Amino acid sequence: MVMADTTLMDKLVSLCKRRGFVFQSSEIYGGLGSVWDYGPLGVELKKNVKDRWWRAMVHARDDIEGLDAAILMHPRVWEASGHVAGFTDPLVDCRQCKNRFRADDPRIKGTPGQPDAQCPVCGSKGTLTEPRLFNLMFKTFMGPVEEQAAVVYLRPETAQGIYVNYLNVLQSSRQKIPFGIAQIGKAFRNEITPGNFIFRTREFEQMEMQFFVKPGTDAEWFERWREWRMEWHRDLGLTPSRLRWHQHGPDELAHYARAAFDVEYEFPFGWQEIEGIHNRGDFDLGRHQEFSGKKLDYFEQAANERFLPYIVETSAGADRVALTILADAYREEQVEGETRVVLGLHPALAPIKAGVFPLVKKDGMPELATSLYHDVKRRFPSFYDDSGAIGRRYRRMDEAGTPFGITVDGETLTDRTVTVRQRDSMQQERVAMDRVADYIGERVSGE
Ligand code: GAP
Repeated sequence: MVMADTTLMDKLVSLCKRRGFVFQSSEIYGGLGSVWDYGPLGVELKKNVKDRWWRAMVHARDDIEGLDAAILMHPRVWEASGHVAGFTDPLVDCRQCKNRFRADDPRIKGTPGQPDAQCPVCGSKGTLTEPRLFNLMFKTFMGPVEEQAAVVYLRPETAQGIYVNYLNVLQSSRQKIPFGIAQIGKAFRNEITPGNFIFRTREFEQMEMQFFVKPGTDAEWFERWREWRMEWHRDLGLTPSRLRWHQHGPDELAHYARAAFDVEYEFPFGWQEIEGIHNRGDFDLGRHQEFSGKKLDYFEQAANERFLPYIVETSAGADRVALTILADAYREEQVEGETRVVLGLHPALAPIKAGVFPLVKKDGMPELATSLYHDVKRRFPSFYDDSGAIGRRYRRMDEAGTPFGITVDGETLTDRTVTVRQRDSMQQERVAMDRVADYIGERVSGE
């Protein structure tokens, strides 16, 4: 079925609320702009994404260590990183209606600051100010006094926590270059044009890895990381034709980057970045060495050589990846004259692995189903449902992306087998009750 793109996003947002994936922050107060909360199913989905990333980046490798640095950091960090001076967007204000826009907002007609410029909201002419730079970092104060000297920032990326701990991790883990440090954590950006649900928000989570390499080997590592990261996205079960690379041209490169490629996904609102792979050269360690006065170079014994490592970064948004998975998985099908909404999630990512149902609430079926449910739930997140027609119970689980529906029916009473229904094909097979947990285990653990 072909759907208009905006309709698809509206349907996804509505499903996310209905089934408990994502809610608007502070909804009973009217919501908070571009901040979202993850409900019972959403938190499981995002946790599965993050666990999968951690397994691939940290547990499955010998050359990457994990880290969990604090959100608040010394303010000098953000001077060294270039964020105080450079993490800005040019903005214009309308003196008439008091609205604020990015200077490059395509809805603005004319040149801001000039009499011909027209406000895209109130339509007034000549009321738009000259562009002014606006820093995207959230500021707060540390300690009891709200003064300039007490300003600290909510980190706009997790990467800096890794750079300032580079020596600590190197020395404590006894790693040698090349090696990496991985971190998952919250980041905050006072985005001027957030939107598209959880795609661009003001509070989000990043999954970042910084790989420290010998200068001269950076291009080679960059290519390797590009390949590994694209493979990771493909292994989430995303439609391969909806993934592609975007190479940053010289005008797009961030101040720290020598080369950058984005993994892009074709969302209902167009192709957009979900992860960036950056060759950052020695920019970061060089700047932190300069600003902190602490030597950050590395001595390579084998070559009897000292150098400042180069960094290859992989930086993905956990929320963006979750949105990618949801958008890719959403589909509608016509089944016996009714619309069936399905989230065709990879079983390893599905928040609930199995729904357990007694066909009817009598003849000992609820007792058997409850005991089976407890059995299965010991190993996998599962859901027990005995209300309404069985078809409706299946549909609710289809919308939640639950890969298996397990029904205790009349036959179970005599031969101790249950019906296992596959979410995608809707095909059913009979499985011995005492084999059900293993049956699910074999199918959800797939990488
Ligand atoms: N350390 C490099 C860095 O932060 P970035 O391209 O600004 O690079 C990396 O961000 C990733 O973080 C993006 O690909 C995206 O997945 C996620 N991200 C960035 N800003 C975001 C926002 N406002 N909302 C949600 N995710 C965001």
